[in-house]
Parts: sequence; C-alpha cells; structure tokens
Amino acid sequence: MKHRGVTVWFTGLSGAGKTTISAQVEKYLRDNQCKIELLDGDIVRENLTKGLGFSKEDRDINIRRIGFVAHLLTRNGVIVLVSAISPYREIRQEVKRQIGDFVEVFVNAPLAECEKRDVKGLYKKARAGEIKHFTGIDDPYEVPEHPDLECRTDLETVDECVNKVLQKLRDDGYIE
Ligand code: PPS
Ligand code: ADP
Ligand code: MG
Repeated sequence: MKHRGVTVWFTGLSGAGKTTISAQVEKYLRDNQCKIELLDGDIVRENLTKGLGFSKEDRDINIRRIGFVAHLLTRNGVIVLVSAISPYREIRQEVKRQIGDFVEVFVNAPLAECEKRDVKGLYKKARAGEIKHFTGIDDPYEVPEHPDLECRTDLETVDECVNKVLQKLRDDGYIE
C-alpha cells in the first residue's frame, strides 16, 4: 500500500486503550506492506528511556526522546505509532510542531471505566498508595483541547476505533 511518513500519537489514561488500538493499526498496516514502527510507553521504558520515573521532568524526557525517534522515522517515510500517556499538553504540542506530519489521537475513556478495567492491576496499587504519581489518581492528565481524532473507548468498539484511525490516515493522504 502506498504511504507517506506520519506519526500517529495515541494519548490517554492508563487503561484507556492506547496499546490495544495501536497494536491493531500496526497489524493492519504491516499486513498491507507499509513501513511501520510502534513505540509503546511500556516497551520504550525498558530500553530507550530505561531508568526514568513518572515525575513531570522524567515524563517530559521520555516524551522528548520518543518524539525525537518518531521524527527521524517519520521523515524517512515510516508510519510511526506512539502509544504513551503523554499527560502534558505543552510537550505534546512541542513534538507535534517538531514532527509536522502528525495525527494526535485522544484515546478517551472516563477514569472510572479505566479503573474498572484495571488491565494491569495498577489502579488498585495506586489507590492503596503502593504506586505514587499515578496518572488520574495523584498525578495530572491534561485533556487534549483539539485532538485530530478522538476515540471514546467506553462507547466505541476496538474495531470502530481502529477503522476511525485508518480512515483519518486516508483522509489526510498518508495511506491510500
Ligand atoms: S508517560 O507519562 O507518557 O511518560 O508514560 P508512558 O511512557 O506511556 O508509561 C506509562 C506506562 O507505565 C506504567 N506506569 C504508570 N503509568 C502512569 N503513572 C504511573 N505512576 C505509572 N507507573 C507505571 C503503566 O503500565 C503505563 O502504561 P499504560 O499502557 O498507559 O497502562
Ligand atoms: P492502555 O495502553 O491505554 O493502558 P490497554 O490497551 O492496555 O490500554 O487496555 C485497554 C483495555 O480496554 C483492554 O482490555 C481492551 O480490550 C479494552 N477495550 C474495550 N474497548 C476498547 C476500545 N474501543 N479500544 C481499546 N480498548 C478497548
Ligand atoms: Mg499500554
């Protein structure tokens, strides 16, 4: 499938669905012979940004490093999917300006829904005080004011969300 370089940046609370949606978009594009890379917060934090914590300073370093790599790949024609909480609006804007070819996807579910899902048991630990600075509990999440796309994962199915992302990439001329 013909395609152009772009970064699709999935932002949202833990458990909102960033990893699930980005992994399915990745599969579709890979199956269609696109050059594609997925940078997922949980994975990146084991290598590129290993050792960083969840203070604002560390999250900003994490996002800047991810943004730097995403920029290099994007300008070489790769479709880059980033799934990271990226809770701070200003730094999301910074990487958007840097990369240019950029689609911000707000993966949105109410905190109560994310907490009910508690995919990795982290909310339970955060509520018990075993994890500090947990996004949505005792750390901020700044909602995107003008995302390029929003997926309401409490109201839409995974397939619907994935198709919305692909359609946005078609509409913007990044894929055929
Ligand atoms: S950030 O804010 O963009 O730098 O975060 P990110 O790199 O995406 O890492 C988020 C994943 O780290 C796990 N985790 C936490 N998340 C939020 N707050 C705290 N304190 C925290 N501690 C560990 C968690 O698995 C996140 O992944 P997701 O996929 O969002 O659940
Ligand atoms: P995140 O990476 O944002 O922390 P995950 O993808 O790990 O989130 O977890 C999201 C959970 O919500 C998964 O268990 C997934 O099956 C579920 N889910 C339900 N509906 C959706 C949807 N529309 N999009 C994404 N995930 C969904
Ligand atoms: Mg995830």
